[in-house]
Amino acid sequence: MAKASAPGKLILFGEHFVVYGLPAIATAIEARTVAEVKRAGKFSLQDNRPETPGYRNAKRDQQSDSIQRILRVMRLEGEKASIELGGNLIAASGVGASGASCAAIAAALNEEFTLGKGIDEINDVAYEGEKGYHGVPSGIDNCCSSYGGFILFRKDLKTGKGIVRQLHSKAVLSIIIGNTGITSNTTKVVEDVKREKQRDPDRFRKMLDDYSMIVEEAETALAKGELKKIGLLMNRNHLLLEEMDVSCPELEELVDIASRSGALGAKLTGTGRGGLMIALVTDETKGRVASAIEKAGFRSEITRIGAEGVRVER
Ligand code: MEV
Repeated sequence: MAKASAPGKLILFGEHFVVYGLPAIATAIEARTVAEVKRAGKFSLQDNRPETPGYRNAKRDQQSDSIQRILRVMRLEGEKASIELGGNLIAASGVGASGASCAAIAAALNEEFTLGKGIDEINDVAYEGEKGYHGVPSGIDNCCSSYGGFILFRKDLKTGKGIVRQLHSKAVLSIIIGNTGITSNTTKVVEDVKREKQRDPDRFRKMLDDYSMIVEEAETALAKGELKKIGLLMNRNHLLLEEMDVSCPELEELVDIASRSGALGAKLTGTGRGGLMIALVTDETKGRVASAIEKAGFRSEITRIGAEGVRVER
């Protein structure tokens, strides 16, 4: 039996823009998905992850495609194994639940079948698994779950390869997550954005240019630990995502609540059209922001970020 775990992720800057080759900044969170793999008489999957109601059901077919891809790329197709998923990462849109489970499954299979793959290969396998969920994803989610910490991620559009650079933050960032409770479909939302780009290329180009400035400033602000600046840049990034039409009334309400109750900045994170909102808070404001979110009927959670990437659990 082998066990491995991988963290969920939050995109601080650049979801959707990353699909068009611009850099995004993301971080691993404390909550993790654990995969336990055992050689067995037949293949089986037991998914015991906590979830936003309906998430696992909505993703069932994608999950099965994803696991087949992982087994194929690891050359384990004929092997029989039982896979059990658990851990404290709540499976929900926006938190990289699929990326975390792919990385954890890849690492546990690697251990159980003594394949000797290193971290970059585990990440490549996790990326293959992500395709089952997201068509052709940028790869940011699996990179975050594999490498952990803070990353600046860019997809080379010519080779399709992800380029990852570890970032360091002087500041300790406290993030409150607000959950819309809505499961979104990344493939569909990414396709809608692409259609919008084709419909009005000039408007889209302007959004990409505006975002480029935001991420450049964000990298510097993060390195210097300028919390207020980071918050303002998150607000600006959210406005662009709203303009891109990937927000929704529930995300707008969450951003509004967080801003009015004292967050330094707030934005949707991940796919959008549901999923999660993140708010940058201080020790003084975190209680106020979290209770305002709960009072409005949404679930909230505070998380530390910059957590460790995929690892084998002994
Ligand atoms: C999903 O977590 C992030 C998106 O940018 C899609 C991707 O990067 O593949 C929306």
